Amino acid sequence: MTSPRILLIVGGGIAAYKACELVRLIRKGGGSVRCVLTEGAQHFVTPMTLAALSENEVHTSLWDLKNETEMGHIQLSREANLVVVCPATADLMAKMAAGIADDMATTLLLATDKPVLAVPAMNVRMWLHPATQRNVATLKADGVTVLDPDEGPMACGEYGPGRLPEPPVIWDAIQRLISSDPFVSSEVETPGVLAGRHILVTAGPTHEPIDPVRYIANRSSGKQGYAIAEALAKLGARVTLVSGPTGLPAPAGVNRVDVETARQMAAAVDAALPADVAVMVAAVADWRVDTNADQKIKKDGTGAPPALSLVENPDILAGLGASDKRPRLLIGFAAETEKVVDHAVAKRERKGSDWIVANDVSGDVMGGDTNTIHIVTRDGVESWERLPKADVARRLAARIADELV
Ligand code: C5P
Repeated sequence: MTSPRILLIVGGGIAAYKACELVRLIRKGGGSVRCVLTEGAQHFVTPMTLAALSENEVHTSLWDLKNETEMGHIQLSREANLVVVCPATADLMAKMAAGIADDMATTLLLATDKPVLAVPAMNVRMWLHPATQRNVATLKADGVTVLDPDEGPMACGEYGPGRLPEPPVIWDAIQRLISSDPFVSSEVETPGVLAGRHILVTAGPTHEPIDPVRYIANRSSGKQGYAIAEALAKLGARVTLVSGPTGLPAPAGVNRVDVETARQMAAAVDAALPADVAVMVAAVADWRVDTNADQKIKKDGTGAPPALSLVENPDILAGLGASDKRPRLLIGFAAETEKVVDHAVAKRERKGSDWIVANDVSGDVMGGDTNTIHIVTRDGVESWERLPKADVARRLAARIADELV
């Protein structure tokens, strides 16, 4: 087994600068990279930058006698385990779809016998243009894996799909492609970008018993926390998921610790430390019943309800924020029904966390499959569009990886 060898073809778009970060991540993840720049790409990043980051020769021209005699372009396209085109511009994808080979990059792409991953980035109109969509469909039919671009504000001032996904997401896609291709996976091993990190995630509701058959609970399904645990594990982290009662299956590769009450969750969190990161997604009950009855409470015939007195539960997040075992990156969640961001800003201070991920739970978020979140950090607020919970999880995992590397 060897580490993966990536041939990275950089197209000429503003997102080319992110190729530098991708090279860093691949190397950090144990892979090696050889870069090829189109002529356009050289207006955005220099061969010198990528040569320094990859510690490998950078190729720009078919007509470079020195390069060609040391390693011909056919060999270059074959010695890699995987070819990644990033950013894949509209022009580059059009040439790939048509089989045009008029420079080093396109010639390599036509000559390769290895899996190809294209990571598009372009203006939203260019991405949505029928010609580009036709080319993407052709490339997919030809067996090229084409990542969906992210949606959001663009360098050109417009908004929509067309942004390059974050480098950790691309590295994750590279690893998934490698492991899904039996020919490639039998040749390489890939530790993820979060390999060697221990990440603690809490998820689900807690149940606070009233008597042996009744309890106080909330509507948390655990879906968002489980998706985050899964996404972090996919990036190579060792994940401990401390979960309240949810009925969800444990995500693959995650060590789940089941608890029922807030106090049990606090003890399980403490037992799981130390951790590099803690993501506290659980909807912990604020109160528990002071003395939970040993026997089922019965109606006494007078019509008077039993008096339940409540006491406050330990705040696990705030406890971690003030603890000497505080993880380097501490992330809390805030489920709010009004003034979502204002409450989150105050909560970040009060709980001593680095980030608060705030979500508006006034709709069908609890138990639903989508989420709209705002990440409140020391530097400000980042608002994401409404996304499936799995996508929120993947982007958040990538953001966490970015923070640690
Ligand atoms: O104060 P509030 O419940 O809105 O705070 C939410 C955040 O605090 C979440 O990250 C939740 O997991 C955490 N929390 C906790 N222990 C509690 C209450 C909340 O860890 N007792």
